Amino acid sequence: MMLTVDQVTKNFGGLQALSSVSVSFRRGEFVGLIGPNGSGKTTLINCITGLYRPDGGAIRLGEETISHLPPHRIYRRGIGRTFQISKVFNRLSVLDNLRIPALTEGRLRRHEVQDRSREILEQIKLEHHGKTNAENLSGGQRKLLELGMIMMTDPRFLLLDEPFGGVHPELKSQLEDYLCRLNREGKTIVLVSHEMPSVFRICERLVVLDHGVLVTDGSPEAVRSDERVINAYLGGSYDEA
Ligand SMILES: Nc1ncnc2c1ncn2[C@@H]1O[C@H](COP(=O)(O)OP(=O)(O)OP(=O)(O)O)[C@@H](O)[C@H]1O
Ligand SMILES: [Mg+2]
Repeated sequence: MMLTVDQVTKNFGGLQALSSVSVSFRRGEFVGLIGPNGSGKTTLINCITGLYRPDGGAIRLGEETISHLPPHRIYRRGIGRTFQISKVFNRLSVLDNLRIPALTEGRLRRHEVQDRSREILEQIKLEHHGKTNAENLSGGQRKLLELGMIMMTDPRFLLLDEPFGGVHPELKSQLEDYLCRLNREGKTIVLVSHEMPSVFRICERLVVLDHGVLVTDGSPEAVRSDERVINAYLGGSYDEA
């Protein structure tokens, strides 16, 4: 099933955060969505996941237009996302963070939630922290937990906004491995990241935004040598961090 962004425009007052952006994500792809600070990456994810409504254009999942649906309906169609600033419940244990949203969502039975949470806990390598309150996790562990939370309902699409931000190098390679594993198992992944070494290592295709305009869409090799990309980064406020 293809996820299609068709000439999507999003304005904030006089600012055009997205200018007629068109891009498609095919099943099983691992795509990097990159661009300087403020280029519209998060806005695009917010439009796809229903947090923002586009001012123009449409977003389709297969044949169905989803750009008018509220976030929970889009999530139910198998499009999961993580946030630039992790959203976990600080005062709940790691296991409860995994279980409570899944129970509330209501698609899984109680025993399925129990089993799945154990499985995910292992996948995100937090098996020794099941009872730890989320507030006591490191930044990187919180990112892993947030990813685990959306994996509870097994979405087909994972839209990940800066999952490596503030993550310790050792945990970063663990997270990279986990994403590659999920992709091998069939997940379509759209990865927003400023971590160029990781992006170039793990993505098979890169989409580059600059000032709300999609400037390039191609293989990492093609993008690496694209002058417009080099200009976007050198000319913009690109921040290595
Ligand atoms: N809710 C909003 N209200 C007003 N302006 C916004 C809003 N969200 C984003 N913007 C603006 O839209 C532009 C694109 O922002 P966006 O957050 O999508 O960039 P980004 O590529 O994710 O940047 P970063 O790499 O820093 O996360 C920026 O100029 C930003 O200030
Ligand atoms: Mg952003």
